[in-house]
Amino acid sequence: MRFDIAFIGFGTVGRGFADLLLEKRELLKKAYGIEWKVVAISDIKGGSVMDPKGIDLAEAVRLADSGNGIEGMGGEKKGLGALETIRESGANFVVEVTWTNIKDGEPGYSHIKAALEMGKHVATTNKGPISLHYRELMRISSERGGRLRFEGTVLSGTPVFNLFDGPLAASGVSSIRGIVNGTTNLILSEMEKGRTYSEVLKEAQRMGYAEADPTMDVEGWDAAAKAAILANHFFGADIKPDAVARRGISGVTLEEVTGAIRKGGRIKLIAKAWRGDRGEARAEVAPTWLPASDPLASIGGVTNALTFSTDTLGDITIVGPGAGRRATGYALLSDMISIARSLAH
Ligand code: HSE
Repeated sequence: MRFDIAFIGFGTVGRGFADLLLEKRELLKKAYGIEWKVVAISDIKGGSVMDPKGIDLAEAVRLADSGNGIEGMGGEKKGLGALETIRESGANFVVEVTWTNIKDGEPGYSHIKAALEMGKHVATTNKGPISLHYRELMRISSERGGRLRFEGTVLSGTPVFNLFDGPLAASGVSSIRGIVNGTTNLILSEMEKGRTYSEVLKEAQRMGYAEADPTMDVEGWDAAAKAAILANHFFGADIKPDAVARRGISGVTLEEVTGAIRKGGRIKLIAKAWRGDRGEARAEVAPTWLPASDPLASIGGVTNALTFSTDTLGDITIVGPGAGRRATGYALLSDMISIARSLAH
């Protein structure tokens, strides 16, 4: 399989994927029959370069990491916008990694839609378009034949969706619950040690975990977007983030956090998606007391975890990173392999 890749967005996540493409070029070819070249990169801050013969990805990463725009490098065309890049680059694989907006999903929604309408494959880590427009985008994907994958929208590269293409294929899921936001889990973990909420939030911002607007994390919006994606994908729902029953952690006090430990458990911000009694899909986010025996109770710091209740293996808990350059870049690599496999069948 040959992928001609266009990067729409070339920030931390895009460059994390680029690092892995370069590092694993031989493995991709040998083990999965995937050969790739990058035909375009378009980034709102770094500029844009397009060349159907292929551009030097290592040079692009080096320039972007040093804070310089990429337009100084070699390439046939410069300065195209994102939509022009999607339409004109000749790419068959679009990597959409622009910023997250869970109000209307833009600009990622228009980018993904344009690419899918042209029959291109899309891999994205962008929670906005997938939480808001999942059904429509999946419909376009199946009508036009371009695959859509979004592993990195929940738990970054820690497997969630692609697990069901592989080890958990043919398993039915009745509920999914877990810790899907690293910032709030770090805050709750550190509050157990007596540190204040605002002090730890600053640390999460320094680590690059918190959203640009941290109320997205602490008021549970980021977790609600992820719960909506889980409900829509696994339970056939069409739930938007603002329809998820949501409570964040801003009302959780130090006394409640330490009191939970005295009672032999912990408070965690739990996102949940499940099928209700009448078969309807449900989703919620709320601070929840968990007994110490619950595998989710021991997940500390920025780590994420999800427990799937399945009809084949009972409960399966997946634990791993939920953000970061390499971990989120890996989600896109895993999506690329998943797409190649689905095309081979
Ligand atoms: N702000 C998110 C978190 C980033 O803290 O988990 C990953 O989606």
